[in-house]
Formats: sequence, structure tokens, C-alpha cells
Amino acid sequence: MSLISFQKKKDAEKLVCLTAYTHYMAALAAPSVDLILVGDSLGMVQYGMKSTLSVTLDMMIMHGKAVVDGASSQVPVIVDMPFGTYQESPEQAFRNAALIMQQTGCDGVKLEGGQEMADTIGFLVQRGVPVMGHIGLKPQSVHVHGGYRMTGKHDTEKKQIKADSDAISRSGCFAMVLECVDSDLAAQITNDVVCPTIGIGASVKCDGQILVTEDILGMTGHKVPSFVKQYADLSDTIRDSIENYTQDVKKGNLSD
Ligand code: KIV
Repeated sequence: MSLISFQKKKDAEKLVCLTAYTHYMAALAAPSVDLILVGDSLGMVQYGMKSTLSVTLDMMIMHGKAVVDGASSQVPVIVDMPFGTYQESPEQAFRNAALIMQQTGCDGVKLEGGQEMADTIGFLVQRGVPVMGHIGLKPQSVHVHGGYRMTGKHDTEKKQIKADSDAISRSGCFAMVLECVDSDLAAQITNDVVCPTIGIGASVKCDGQILVTEDILGMTGHKVPSFVKQYADLSDTIRDSIENYTQDVKKGNLSD
């Protein structure tokens, strides 16, 4: 599937997206999903950082390249622009988006922001960079918004997020992530914008869903958000396997 066909589906079938940070995870996910995101959540999930704010361009490029190779052109791969690499000006955003696309071979970039980023999104799209928007809870702005929480429940915030969705839709993003957006608002945005909405903790009313792959596999050391359905507990499997290996080595139970 190419990015061109990543559109709202008329038959109500949902778009399926997952994150990947490594070559092998991308190879495992690519046959099933419609889009892979190299999310900057990799800072927390893979590197144990406290937030996504410390993730660098070099990290995104390194992991982005591995994921693009692993996905081997089966699905579009989108790479997150890390904090501080696009907010300054449309020119700065274009310079860094171009670097990400050239060095990873990815199909486009994702960046966080609503009305305040609409001009930048338009600037990138007009110059050949497909952009996925990201509104509602914006983890890179966690210090301004006072934590990771649901958004759009109250009037002022509801109006702002609706205005954000309209603005970035008009700027030409090919899809937008709605993170932790109130379900009625997510439904209204999904109905109003031309591009597909991809929800994470924003109800089933979005055109598609995305989750962090390690969360659904039970491969994180932390408690997962309540909206995450876990399909496996790989932490237990890994812990048991390592313990079994340890016992085998200690007891000399290995084959020659
Ligand atoms: O960084 C990330 O992984 C994300 C999503 C899960 C939407 O932005």
C-alpha cells in the first residue's frame, strides 16, 4: 500500500497503524498493517527516557532507516520529527524533514501541533513532504499541558482542538493522529476533515487506530494506558526464557 491509498475507507473498514523502532519489528508488522510509524515514543520505550523531549534527529534517522529497510516497501513508513527540529520556522522544518526523508528513505514525517503549525505543514506539503499531523494530547508539549491526560472534554479546549483539526486539514496533511481526544469530539472531527483520523485513546470513532507495538505485546517495563488492549505478555516470556537459559548454563545443560 502506498501513501496515496492511505485514505478514509468508504466501506467503514478501519486503517491499521502501529509503531516500530527496529528492523525486525517492522518486518513482523509490515504484512498486516496499513502504516508503520517510527514514533518518538522510542525515547521512552527503547531508551528509558522520561519523556520524548530528549529524542534527537540522529536517533530518529538511525531507527527510521532500520524500520524502512525492515518494512521493505510493503507499507508506508512515517518518521516522527523530534522536539526542537521543526517548531522554529517552516524553513527549519523543511531542512530537517528533508534530511529525515533523504537519510531514511521514509514516505513522510509526523509532527505535533494544530493552528500554530498549520503554515509549516502547508510549507512542507507544497515542497513534497507528506505530513501526518498530531493533535489533542501532544507529548512534546507535556510541560505546557500539565501531564498526559484526556483532551477536549471542556468547551474552550474542545473549540481549540476542533480549530486545530480544521487548520491542519486545510494545510494538506495526509492524515492526523488524535491522541487522547474526547470521543464525541473525535467523531465530529472525523466527520468534518477530508483526511483520515487515526486515534490513540480517542475512541473507535476515528478512521483508524494506532498504538505503541511494545504496549500491545506487553513488552514495556511500565503500566500501559487504560485504552491499550494487550495481546501478549512478552515480558513474562522473555523473563522466563532468560531464567531457563541461566539455569541451563549454570547446570551445564547445553548441547555441544
Ligand atoms: O510517538 C509515538 O509513538 C506516537 C504515537 C503512538 C501516535 O506519536
